[in-house]
Amino acid sequence: MRSHRCGEVTEKLNGQAVRLCGWIHGRRDLGGLIFISLRDHSGHVQVVVDPDSAAFADAERLRNEYCVQIAGEVRMRPEHQQKASEATGTVEVLAAEVRLLNESAPLPLLMSDEDGEEVRLKYRYLDLRRGRMQRNLKIRSGLNRAIREHLHARGFTEFETPILTRATPEGARDYLVPSRVHSGQFYALPQSPQLFKQLLMMAGMDRYYQIARCFRDEDLRADRQPEFTQLDMELSFVDQRDVQAVAEELMRAVFRDVLDVALDDPFPRLDWREAVECYGTDKPDLRIPAQLVTVDAHVAHLDFQVFAGPANDAAQRVVGLRVPGGASLSRRQIDAYAELVKRYGAPGLAWIKVNEISAGLDGLQSPITKFLDARAWTGLAESLQASDGDLLLFGAGESLVASTFMGQLRVQIGHDLEQVKQGWRPLWVTGFPMFERNEESGRLMAVHHPFTAPDIDDPAALADNPEQARSKGYDMVLNGAEIGGGSIRIHRPEMQQQVFALLGIDAVEAREKFGFLLEALKYGCPPHGGIAFGLDRIVALMAGEDSIRDVIAFPKTTTAQCLLTGAPSAISPEQLAELGLRPAGSKG
Ligand code: AMO
Ligand code: AMP
Repeated sequence: MRSHRCGEVTEKLNGQAVRLCGWIHGRRDLGGLIFISLRDHSGHVQVVVDPDSAAFADAERLRNEYCVQIAGEVRMRPEHQQKASEATGTVEVLAAEVRLLNESAPLPLLMSDEDGEEVRLKYRYLDLRRGRMQRNLKIRSGLNRAIREHLHARGFTEFETPILTRATPEGARDYLVPSRVHSGQFYALPQSPQLFKQLLMMAGMDRYYQIARCFRDEDLRADRQPEFTQLDMELSFVDQRDVQAVAEELMRAVFRDVLDVALDDPFPRLDWREAVECYGTDKPDLRIPAQLVTVDAHVAHLDFQVFAGPANDAAQRVVGLRVPGGASLSRRQIDAYAELVKRYGAPGLAWIKVNEISAGLDGLQSPITKFLDARAWTGLAESLQASDGDLLLFGAGESLVASTFMGQLRVQIGHDLEQVKQGWRPLWVTGFPMFERNEESGRLMAVHHPFTAPDIDDPAALADNPEQARSKGYDMVLNGAEIGGGSIRIHRPEMQQQVFALLGIDAVEAREKFGFLLEALKYGCPPHGGIAFGLDRIVALMAGEDSIRDVIAFPKTTTAQCLLTGAPSAISPEQLAELGLRPAGSKG
């Protein structure tokens, strides 16, 4: 039906006949001439219809998003109309024939960034016609291709693993699928292919990868979807450094291929504790230069209990944050930050404006100067490297709480004051604890997942001191987003059993849920490990989008609905009965 795509019509085709297909992107009638912007997957081209041409009457009927075929001749635009910055900007097509392929009903949305998300998702097929969305999905496809090429060249084999399966614990709720044949029994959709990829290593497959759909019933946010895509990888005979080297090399390759960007080589590494201490998060955005500073030593002697209390308590912390140039912030702006941190559990926020550092305490403006002395101020000023015009912020409280709210503040202020540097700042975060204790239940929980190896090799020694153990896990972080996580796995059945026991999974439950894994570990399981990347998050970063919904063709809303198809939906009583299920609310 067509000789070229719209985006291919450039000067090279000057004088040639072309036949194009696409949609009417816009139409203007000017002094008898009709100008059409014709759009397809590849771009736009200007079409001109002369009033004397046989095509004119057809062109007059066209409206936006009508689907057409246009034949004509390529010619140079008059010089003053040429737009050299656009691929097709110096030429136009003089139409000889305009054929309507299909009309469009009046559009239910503007097809611009002004459309609300609800209408965009309901009419997703129209929303996806927009250049921005076409570009995002092309980036996604390009990333998938770059990944496959890179991994195949390095001896990885692509595998598919089951979607109808048993629960795979990754810390979220499962999506369940009732079995008709086995009434009252359910499949779980995989939260990740974790156990299957480990079984493939036990099966001698050496290096696995899969671009895998994962399903997690959890609270959704901009960077979380109920079904999302992982690049999932597993390797045999590796330690942490081996996996990290392979994963880094992959990321450098795909960023080079897709964006022509060179990432660091090697990526910096940060211990989890240091990440929390210096950035208040385990996924620091290194594009923001500011760091959190512990100032306990400088305020512990003060009468000011807000600071002295936490400074003298090992479980608490006083954190300082220097905002260069922040003294120009108004009282109202600072109050707004104090409100913000309350949402993250902050009991308060103290601040000091440094007007004239050489004047000592007299050169400061702050509600807390009256509580400070010269010794405290000298220590604070030095440790924070304060200078004239700075705003110094302080948060005191339980260590993790104070670190977290000050970390949030660091990011917010970094963005507000445009202190986020351009570029790509990947890093590894390692040394996570193996377990954390759930405050409500008092039980130990796996920080990563229950198959991650601890840094202690002896099961009995692990049981003696589980909360001291670190895991052999690692996260890859890019510009403040956790884009991947993985670990070296437990490859001996005794250790796996011990970890289950510490997690409160007794032998009977372990056998019932993970018997197949414990059994498989008995037959010469190789040491192995891997990683899974959140592909949606990587594409969103590459495309400069804030939400992963903008890089998924048919995403769900934050309440896990598909507005296009109306899923989830009720099913008939007959279907329910066939599955051995009763309607919600009925007694039985
Ligand atoms: P983890 O649970 O850390 O590890 O997931 C790996 C990566 O997947 C992405 N991700 C998500 N993306 C979008 N929506 C979600 N709901 C979502 N949840 C996670 C994140 C995350 O870093 N089996 C292990 C991996 C392993 O150990 O090899 C796992 O799934 O970018
Ligand atoms: P107060 O003695 O309660 O009036 O507090 C004096 C100053 O310390 C006020 O500016 C409070 O906002 C601030 N403040 C109170 N609690 C904290 C805290 N936990 N961390 C940082 N600043 C605090």
